[in-house]
Amino acid sequence: MSLFRIYRNNKLSKTRIDKFFVDKKKCGPMVLDALVHIKNFEDKTLTFRRSCREGICGSCAMNINGKNGLACLTPIKDTNSVYPLPHMPIIKDLVPDMSNFYKQYKEIKPWLQNNDVSNNISEIYQSKEDRQKLDGLYECILCACCSTSCPSYWWNSDKYLGPAVLMQAFRWIEDSRDQNTQERLDYVNDAMKLYRCKTIMNCTNTCPKGLNPGKSIALLKQKLSG
Ligand code: SF4
Ligand code: F3S
Ligand code: FES
Repeated sequence: MSLFRIYRNNKLSKTRIDKFFVDKKKCGPMVLDALVHIKNFEDKTLTFRRSCREGICGSCAMNINGKNGLACLTPIKDTNSVYPLPHMPIIKDLVPDMSNFYKQYKEIKPWLQNNDVSNNISEIYQSKEDRQKLDGLYECILCACCSTSCPSYWWNSDKYLGPAVLMQAFRWIEDSRDQNTQERLDYVNDAMKLYRCKTIMNCTNTCPKGLNPGKSIALLKQKLSG
């Protein structure tokens, strides 16, 4: 039997930690399988997000045994502590309010800005070398594990964009097809939006997709310093 200690918060009662025992033989191997099992057979009020169950949608991001990660990619251990992503407002149990995170993502205009596209030219060529510059950036699933592991983001998430959003800002700055590079650089060139990053690197250590947002931020700062 595996022990699960799970954070519960439904706004009507006091925040508490509930204990559940799950027989690993009766569910799949991952923490998400256990959460689904608990919801189906022990407590149907347990609330969490999930969709793809294979590390693609990013919705099952939570704090498991003290580290942010995806419940669908984290194997069950003998004892498991499961909390929501840290320092986020909680809607219920393991479901954080992601509104600010998505608002910040929208602020960096995460789409291709190119007048040729606006003029209905459907193909914009890119060399293999330029395309390769996007490797390690485009794979981000916006799970927010990195931003919610960053102390600078914990204390200043109203102004600091955080590693996930900054890496996506860099992704569009690096895209050879985009024509608004300077405007994008000007937008992030700000003491709070970008320079609250103090190179703590929790972001890179926690990314469940093996990406390196800390490095992207360093390259962004380097680009801005010329
Ligand atoms: Fe998640 Fe990694 Fe993207 Fe951060 S960089 S949002 S941890 S996939
Ligand atoms: Fe935070 Fe990563 Fe910078 S943890 S301080 S965003 S290097
Ligand atoms: Fe989609 Fe875990 S359910 S990443």
